[in-house]
Amino acid sequence: MRIEVDCPSGRWLLAAALAAVVACAPGRLPAAEQGEGKFGADWDSWQANTSVSDLASVQRGARNYTSYCLGCHSLKYERWSRLGADLRIPPELLEQDLLPPGAKATDYIESAMPPADAETWFGKAPPDLSLMVRARGKDYIYQLLTTFYVDPTRQTGANNLRLPAIAMPDVLSELGGLKAAVYRTESHPGPGGSSISEQVFDHFEQLVPGRMSLAEYDGFVRDTVNFLDYVSEPTQLERRSLGLWVVLFLLVFTWLAWLVKREYWKDIH
Ligand code: HEC
Repeated sequence: MRIEVDCPSGRWLLAAALAAVVACAPGRLPAAEQGEGKFGADWDSWQANTSVSDLASVQRGARNYTSYCLGCHSLKYERWSRLGADLRIPPELLEQDLLPPGAKATDYIESAMPPADAETWFGKAPPDLSLMVRARGKDYIYQLLTTFYVDPTRQTGANNLRLPAIAMPDVLSELGGLKAAVYRTESHPGPGGSSISEQVFDHFEQLVPGRMSLAEYDGFVRDTVNFLDYVSEPTQLERRSLGLWVVLFLLVFTWLAWLVKREYWKDIH
């Protein structure tokens, strides 16, 4: 007997599998990394491409956050103990690697910097970042952390494409290096046949390399954003794993219901 394989659902399965592979592919690197176009020219389409189900990435992000952000930004809606439990960090490791000296696991994640001092130093108090991903989206924060550039006219020596005139210093320059923003002049026809020219951002030029390569820095930022994504909705880790069980339950239940229906109707023709 020959079995004819003409099964449209097979094709659907293949398409779904391909889509899954594409969806799981690592995030797009900045254009310069791929050797195409000018570095930074397409910065406003850069995406974080992170997933909170990648626990190792969220854990690395927690470490990045405590080393480079907690000095100024609190996460006041989350306790250290909750973070440890969600990210499966054993209490000893939590204490040893993440908890600031003097803090208890049951404390909320507070910054050591008094808001009044921060305001004096930076002109603006660094906001709490607990809900920042919900408020602005993860691509926004990814772009914020990747588009700092040198600007001697600013008090901090740094400016940013995502948030021009930002009060935050370029705190990751040691890792990502220093970039210059290169502008081009564009002319538009103005009123009365005149022409108006304006300076438009064109691309970045790497001035000083950081301790990390561009690709490593990119991974560092993505992990940090991924961690902030988790913090902005800690239950999403649980919800995602629960969702899988719910779908499985529904499938099994549908099968049982079908068996019962078949049993009830088997004598009726
Ligand atoms: C030296 C202090 C300092 C450190 C360290 C710091 N920030 Fe900031 N951050 C600030 C200040 C000040 C602002 C307010 C900027 C403004 O509104 O102009 C800010 C604002 C922000 C914002 C909000 C931007 C907006 O649109 O309002 C985000 C997001 C942010 N920081 C992320 C981070 C992350 C992630 C880190 C760690 C990698 C970090 N910051 C480290 C001082 C700091």
